[in-house]
Order: sequence, then C-alpha cells, then structure tokens
Amino acid sequence: MTRSPGEYVLDTAARAERDRLRVSAHWWDPFTIRRLDAIGVGPGWRCLEIGAGTGSIAAWLQRRVGRDGHVVATDIETRWLDDLAQPNLEVRHHNVASEPLDFGYDLVHARLVLEHLPQRRAVASKLARTLRPGGWLVVEDYDLCTVGAVDPPSTRWTNVNAVIAAAMQASGFDPSYGSRIPGDLLRAGLVDVAAEGTVYSCPVAAMRALFRPVVARIGARAVETGALAPEDLAYVVGLFDGADPSVTAYTPILVSARGRSPTPG
Ligand SMILES: C[S@@+](CC[C@H](N)C(=O)[O-])C[C@H]1O[C@@H](n2cnc3c(N)ncnc32)[C@H](O)[C@@H]1O
Repeated sequence: MTRSPGEYVLDTAARAERDRLRVSAHWWDPFTIRRLDAIGVGPGWRCLEIGAGTGSIAAWLQRRVGRDGHVVATDIETRWLDDLAQPNLEVRHHNVASEPLDFGYDLVHARLVLEHLPQRRAVASKLARTLRPGGWLVVEDYDLCTVGAVDPPSTRWTNVNAVIAAAMQASGFDPSYGSRIPGDLLRAGLVDVAAEGTVYSCPVAAMRALFRPVVARIGARAVETGALAPEDLAYVVGLFDGADPSVTAYTPILVSARGRSPTPG
C-alpha cells in the first residue's frame, strides 16, 4: 500500500489522539465503574454510552448487561469503536448536539463530553428525556478549579494553567462544568440527583501522558499570540518531562453526577 505524506501525518495525529483517550480512560475508569456499580447496572439493562471515545466503558457495560441487555455506543468519530461491535453492543455514528436519540434507556452515560459542547444544558435535558421512568443519567466532567495548585508554589505553573483554561473556554469548553452538572440534571426534571468528585495529587511527571499533549499544543498557540511567556510554557512542559520529579500538583476534579427519571405515581 502506498501512502501520501498527508495521510501519514493524519494517521500519526489520529493515533496520538487515540492514545491520549486511552490514557484518560485508564486513569478514570475505576472511578466511573465504581459509580456505575453503585447504581446497580446489571444483566438485561439497556444502556447508551455517549461520546464513547475508545470504548472502555462501553465494553465494560456490554459485559455487565450480558446477552439479555443491550449497549449503544455513540461518537462523532467511531473508528476506535468499530471493533467492539457485538450482538449486544451497537456502535452508532451520532452527533449528540444535533441529532435525535431514541427512548427507553435504563442508563445513559457521558464522560468528558458535555463540557466541550456549547449547548451542554440542552444536551443534558435531551439525554434525560431518553430515559425510561426510573432510568439513570450519569454525566461526568471536569472542574479545573484544582489545577492551579502546585507544590512548591509556582506562579509560572499557575499562570500557564490559567491561560490554557481561558483558551479552552474561548473555544466553547466550560472549565467548571463538573460543578454545574447537578443543577442541569435537576433542571432537566431528574430526581435523586447526587454528585461525587475525585481528584489525585501526584508528581507532575506522572500526569505526562494525560496532560502534556494538550498543554504543549494550546500553550504553543498562546505563546504565538503573546498570551503566554515562552519561558513559562517551557518550565511547565519541563515538569511534565521530569525536570523535577519532586514537584506535585492536582489533577482536575472529575465530577460524577447522577439523576433518575421520575416514576409515575
Ligand atoms: C475527551 S473524549 C472522552 C471519551 C470517553 N467518553 C472517555 O471518557 O473515555 C470526548 C469524546 O466525545 C466525542 N464527541 C465530541 N463531540 C461529540 C458530539 N457532538 N457527539 C458525540 N460525541 C462527541 C469525541 O469524539 C470524543 O470521543
């Protein structure tokens, strides 16, 4: 097979994105699975996994619901999901912001998806409407309020994180959506709404695979526009690369919020 240089670059970028999604999934799956376990996902459930990414949670759900259950895994980019298809796991190319959804799910789950969508509140409401009475909606997103803290304190670290959060916000991301999910679930008419967050403190170098790519990419653009001093970005990227393994920081908080569709009577 011959490949043009353009295709090769695209493949490399796509592989890098897949690897980044896998690292993120590996990091957060135990927390997510604990939350899904707690609501009792079990054999026979009908589940909808929105923005499934590389499909780790869709695959877990598929095993959990068994032959009598069914999982629909959606994404606008399904190339990392196609191999997961099974009789009880349907992969669907679908844009949750603009396309309709069917009805009757026992569980709808979306992790690290709504925070990126400017119409997130309408999407939360749309997801709530897909539930059968008594069904659960679980939405998980970041609150970045923890990421400026670093030990020992560093204005460079704090500054870089603030500039990156502002740049992401300018392109439609909500850096504190995690803390806003419960309100959106209540406004969508759900009951038994509850939320829990998890945050890790660890050496910056241990978060390299999770956050260095996004910091380096958005930081480089901020340097180009003059929003960020190059030496501040170099310092932070250096910490991810292990320049001082004793420097520790927090991850964002991953907030996991859940709510249930009311049952009549
Ligand atoms: C940060 S990743 C999270 C992936 C996965 N949920 C996880 O936590 O491992 C965000 C995912 O949402 C998908 N996505 C973004 N916009 C979407 C949309 N409008 N409809 C459906 N999926 C979307 C992306 O393609 C990507 O797979």
